Amino acid sequence: MDHHKPVLLREVLDYLNPRDGQSYLDLTAGYGGHAGAVLSRVGKQAHVVLVDQDMAAINTLEQLFSGHKNVTIMQQDFKSASEALLSQSEQFDLILADLGVSSLHLDNKERGFSLKRDGPLDMRMDQRSKLTAYQVVNEYSANKLAKVLKDYGELPSAMYLSNQIVMHRPFNSTLELADFIAKKNRTKKWRKVHPATLVFQAIRIEVNNELDQLESSLPLWFDLLKEDGKLAVISFHSLEDRIVKKFVQKVSANKYEATGINLTKKVVGPARDELVYNPRSRSAKLRVVAKIKTQKEGAINADSG
Ligand SMILES: C[S@@+](CC[C@H](N)C(=O)[O-])C[C@H]1O[C@@H](n2cnc3c(N)ncnc32)[C@H](O)[C@@H]1O
Repeated sequence: MDHHKPVLLREVLDYLNPRDGQSYLDLTAGYGGHAGAVLSRVGKQAHVVLVDQDMAAINTLEQLFSGHKNVTIMQQDFKSASEALLSQSEQFDLILADLGVSSLHLDNKERGFSLKRDGPLDMRMDQRSKLTAYQVVNEYSANKLAKVLKDYGELPSAMYLSNQIVMHRPFNSTLELADFIAKKNRTKKWRKVHPATLVFQAIRIEVNNELDQLESSLPLWFDLLKEDGKLAVISFHSLEDRIVKKFVQKVSANKYEATGINLTKKVVGPARDELVYNPRSRSAKLRVVAKIKTQKEGAINADSG
């Protein structure tokens, strides 16, 4: 797996500062890059749970960590995995969510995520789920498709592009769709990125229900933290980061009622060296929140007495 480079690894380790014996929950364990680094610090006695919804990622994680008796691997979406862990009253010192797709998803044309490699219109992270990009592109009504493009791609020309897609469908492959969008979406804005980037992003978010999953999972992740525990979230586009930022502000804003401390008042991005050896890190944003230790009632009384 030498072509998978975990993003913001140094920063994640600096903020989480894993120590021997600390429990660790990785909600998007992927190809084990972050998990391996954290595991080597928390040691072989620490309780570790690795979650991913993708079968290929799970196979890799099983190969990498099969010898570790302290590691539990779950193939599930992170929301239902979090609910299951909460129902077992589990809590962790360190939690990480490194959102989105992995570079291996993008590189494997058969998964249909890439707008540069021809593949089927799929884009499912969990191959067991029913909705595919093909259905979104070829079966949604023009209004429904425009809403996807507007809400998840923030495309000002969402209705126009949606109408064009509907008029010219069916589309069978990623390149067929990407080339078509490139012809219809000609503005100066697209000099640096492919003109279909935001269309692909929007469809992917719809197929994997990414923003709803994230929004409803953040409170569960906070509940899964032990007191003094830390939650780190890496996002890759502004829609995700907005949700994470709002959540971190909510738990940390009010001085007297706050349950969390915002450890990244300024969002953390990749350093210059990382941008050079891993250009895909350029849009990564890290936010970290710690759960405040609540004073036990006895301690408050003793202090005030
Ligand atoms: C950016 S990669 C993580 C890479 C990982 N940190 C590493 O170092 O190898 C994101 C991973 O999260 C998984 N994923 C994305 N959304 C998920 C969700 N809602 N539930 C579970 N896994 C998810 C993807 O399948 C992918 O493997």
